[in-house]
This record gives sequence, structure tokens and C-alpha cells, in this order.
Amino acid sequence: MAITKALLTDLASTVDRVPSNFIRPVADRPNLEQLHSSSASIPIIDLHGLDGSNRSQIIQNIAHACHNYGFFQIVNHGIPEEVVSKMVNTSKEFFHLPESERLKTYSDDPSKTTRLSTSFNVKTEKVSNWRDFLRLHCHPLEDCVQEWPANPPSFREDVAEYSREMRGLSLKLLEAISESLGLERDYIDKALGKHGQHMAINYYPPCPQPELTYGLPAHADPNAITILLQNEVPGLQVLYNGTWLTVNPVPNTFIVNIGDQIQTSYVISNDRYKSVLHRALVNSEKERMSIPTFYCPSHDAMIKPAPQLVDNEPPAQYTNFTYSEYFDKFWNRGLSKATCLDMFKAQN
Ligand code: OGA
Ligand code: NI
Repeated sequence: MAITKALLTDLASTVDRVPSNFIRPVADRPNLEQLHSSSASIPIIDLHGLDGSNRSQIIQNIAHACHNYGFFQIVNHGIPEEVVSKMVNTSKEFFHLPESERLKTYSDDPSKTTRLSTSFNVKTEKVSNWRDFLRLHCHPLEDCVQEWPANPPSFREDVAEYSREMRGLSLKLLEAISESLGLERDYIDKALGKHGQHMAINYYPPCPQPELTYGLPAHADPNAITILLQNEVPGLQVLYNGTWLTVNPVPNTFIVNIGDQIQTSYVISNDRYKSVLHRALVNSEKERMSIPTFYCPSHDAMIKPAPQLVDNEPPAQYTNFTYSEYFDKFWNRGLSKATCLDMFKAQN
């Protein structure tokens, strides 16, 4: 059956089988049993006292999680519950707007700074993903807000408040991560140039055959760090020692992960912190939503290893590049298990 709708949400409600363009090859399908049975998960880090007496202990916990998992959950992060619930509600309202209203923001051009789209990159991919998503640039906030959807009426205000909070939290985490690597507290802050912040609102409609497709297949994030908020429907899985760990939703937590830019530029010493593969599965009954904040370098920032972390042994693993070059490669290559970093490997 051919797709006749631009967006998945409007198609999903009319089908009782997954259309053929969403079906993964047999060797590359999710294991749904694992999703429901797994109990192991990523570390939970309590941020209470990060600016006080618990700082050095928390930084050790962060170092351990980044080195071993590339992922951790945070509690006592200081983000008001009300800010989060407004963000979740306005996002849900957006995806429940009539199709004609949502389509006003539609674009399949990854370089657009505000756009609603579907799957990952419809221009380059062979198999589609069971996802619609709204992507927004959020920094500097004043330059971005007027591009965002004006409907639902509270959207801009609620999302602006949430992005402001996410920026504050990202900066705190980046300081802690810098320290955890033995770098100056502001090292990563400076390395990100003028800084960038993007957000996605991922909307995964109920899927009649979730065993045949992905919301998002395995990928690593191209940015510096991601702070992800997920609703109460499980789906996120993280690769750990060859197995997929499910990150079950816990109220009032966020999930943090290391992206490619931290792996490359700051941790050249044999990939001490890894940008780890993760994926999203979909659900047969419930809509799933996740809201990642992608904190990243500004597009003109030159990405290179921290000199303190590159000696002769091991030599720099990657060539220097601008974030803009990296970002284009990421979107145009298609999601893949092989990291995009491989395209920037140095010839040692
Ligand atoms: C992403 C992502 C996971 C999820 O958007 O990059 O990994 O749980 N999302 O939706
Ligand atoms: Ni991701």
C-alpha cells in the first residue's frame, strides 16, 4: 500500500497493518519481549548538592556513567514540574491539531530551523520510521521563538520556558562533565563557540505491528549532550555490552546522554566517553512522546580535541571540522549503526 499522506499521524489512524515501506528486514527488527522483560537499566544520578558539598561525589558518578554507559538518568535536577507538564501538554495538543494546521510547518529540508517532518529524512532513506517530529532551534531564544508554531496558543510561551530551563541544566551538566574529564570547568562551554540548542518533539502514534518497525532505529546523537524527557510509554533502548537496555519511564527524571561531539573533541584518549547507540520502539496501543533537547556547538564552531587529552599516545583520532559540516553529514547519510564519526577519522 502506498503512502498518500505527508505525515504518519494521519495515516496511522487509518491502517490496521504496517504499510510495506515501514517494514524492516527480518534481521533488523525490534525484540518486543526484551522491551517488557528487561530490568537492568542505566545509572540514576541524584543531582542534589551539585553546587555544594556533594559536588565531587556527583562528578565521580557522572564520570562513571559516561565512561561505562554514555547514558544516565537524573533526579533532583531542579526543573519545576509545572514547566515540564506544560511542555508535555502543549506538545500533545500540537500533534492533535487538525492535519491542515500541522502541515503549515511541514518541511523535509533538514537545514530549516523550524519544521515538522516525518520518519528521519524522507529524501534519503529506504525504510520509513514510525515517527512524526517537530524540530525547533532554541538558541538564541529571542531569534527563534517567532518562527515556532503559533498554535496551540500557549505553545511559544510554554516551549520558551522549557528551553530556558533546559539551557540552564545543560550548562550545569557540561561544567560537571568538563570537570569529570579533568578539564577546566568552562572548557566545554568555550569549545562550543556561540553554542546551539535544538529540540525535537517526537510523536510516535500507536502502531498496529510494532514488531516490524522502529520509531527511530539505532543511532548515536550528533550533538554534545542530549537531555531527554519521555512520557509514560516505554520505548527507549540503549546499547550496553551488546544488549539493548530499556529505559523505563520514571516520573520527574530526565535521561542524559553523551553525543558525538563530546566523544570526538574532548575525549580523544581512546574514546573515554562514548556516544552510545540507542533506538526507540513503538507501542500498539498508546501514543508515545519524547522531547530531546540537543545541546550543541554553534554551526561555525571548530571541533577539535582538547590539547590536554591528546598526547603523542594516542594521537588525535579525528580530523578537525566545523559543527556545520558534521550536522549536514548526519542528516544526509541516514541513521546508521556505524557512527557518523567514522567519516571524520584521522589517518594515523
Ligand atoms: C532522538 C532519540 C529517543 C526516544 O530523538 O535522537 O534518540 O526515546 N529519541 O524517542
Ligand atoms: Ni537519539
